[in-house]
Amino acid sequence: MATGHPPLELYDPGFHADHHAAYARMRKEHGPVVPVMLEPGVEGRLVVDYALITAWCRDERTFSRDARRWKDWREGRIPDDSSLLGMMGHRPNALFSDGEEHRRVRRAMVDSLSPFEPGRVGAEARSVAERLVDGFCARGEAELMEEFARPLPLLVMNGMFGMDHESGRRFFTALRDMWDGVDAERANAELERVLSAHIDRKRAHPGDDITSTLMRHRAGLSDEEVLQHLVLMVGAGHEPSAALLSNSVRVLLTDRALGDDLAGARTGIDEAIERVMWSAPPVTNYPVMYPVRDVEVPGGSVVPEGTPVLLGFAAANRFLAEEYADRMDDAPNRAHLAWGVGAHRCPAKDIATAIAVAGIEVLIRRLPGLRLGVAPEELSWRISPFAHALTRLPVAFTPQTPEEEGTPWTPSDSVPETSTPRRQSSEKPAQSSLSSFLVRLLRGR
Ligand code: HEM
Repeated sequence: MATGHPPLELYDPGFHADHHAAYARMRKEHGPVVPVMLEPGVEGRLVVDYALITAWCRDERTFSRDARRWKDWREGRIPDDSSLLGMMGHRPNALFSDGEEHRRVRRAMVDSLSPFEPGRVGAEARSVAERLVDGFCARGEAELMEEFARPLPLLVMNGMFGMDHESGRRFFTALRDMWDGVDAERANAELERVLSAHIDRKRAHPGDDITSTLMRHRAGLSDEEVLQHLVLMVGAGHEPSAALLSNSVRVLLTDRALGDDLAGARTGIDEAIERVMWSAPPVTNYPVMYPVRDVEVPGGSVVPEGTPVLLGFAAANRFLAEEYADRMDDAPNRAHLAWGVGAHRCPAKDIATAIAVAGIEVLIRRLPGLRLGVAPEELSWRISPFAHALTRLPVAFTPQTPEEEGTPWTPSDSVPETSTPRRQSSEKPAQSSLSSFLVRLLRGR
């Protein structure tokens, strides 16, 4: 490992206070691949260069996603209770697979997501968002992370999975307990039980949903593989979607140029989302790859076989943006790496964007006078080596009367079939009973 600055400690609050300054300092000293500590005593490398991330992600012969290649883990130096194992421990799913095996399971996932085109997802997300807003709009204040940004993508995904209301309720509760650290082991077991029962039910009553498509796909997924990929989609999709939504709202509320235009804001929303994806992407230093042999880095250092190599999307985006600072308008503006690159790039980019846009549109339309509830410098960020997300997003606004208070719900197990045009405030929202039910559960009613 090169001398000079010690490895970047990705768990250090000092690093999180200004991570871009730390990336710049380390890059100057070490070049495109910088030494990092993932937790005390656990070494890795972080790639902070756009071209190198792109090249390495496409080089499937040299870089594997299979975490069982992690040398320190293989040789017993990673304790079983390491907090890294939640994100880095091998699981039998697409994210940790290579080559043919990866293509097989990924194809099934991509096909299962394909009916959910952005218009349809946006309509469902708007409908869920309206009901979430109903839960707090009379108060004139809210904590948007817990009350909006986290539940919204999860509730939309529950519908896409085709869950009935009872499974949805248990699934939602188990996930909420996992976030809150309430007996995580029990919550995890409950999650698996709910999904197994859901899969059994879908065998008897298949529908137009992700679960049924995965089950009947020609890739021949076993029930266990279906379960693992439902968990992967929620795991990979939920927190980043919440982070994108909340961080884009923060940008809209703090950037005068974008925020001044809140009323007619579709352009402002798109711009805020793009800005977050460039400068503060939800997934900062993840996933992880493992070189199958020692790899020489341009500039001379070597990454030994089995070293965790983190993909530094946030740093790489920033360095590229700086390089093109005076030419950004001409540059291919969507070429950021925030959705990943290569065979494992995010298969749900359009779905996640549709959820974020719909959520923000509803907030802006329903909450006049929307503003931060604390000074911008009082907002705090989660300390994670892998992700960049607000812990809380307190906001204030002029109190409003709920639009849908007391709407009854009826059992049904899928999201609406058709995409609904953006409704006017006098219209009823598209009805999805499962999400309606879960929203009420969330609100404690
Ligand atoms: C703003 C929200 C999201 C962001 C920023 C995001 C970003 C990413 C990134 C960076 C990767 C890794 C790419 C790579 O390895 O090169 C990824 C993979 C993945 N994402 Fe997303 N994602 C988001 C939302 C979602 C949603 C909503 C879903 C599910 C419905 C999802 C499902 C997945 C899956 C399954 C993978 C693994 C794909 C594979 O290994 O082949 N993501 N995502």
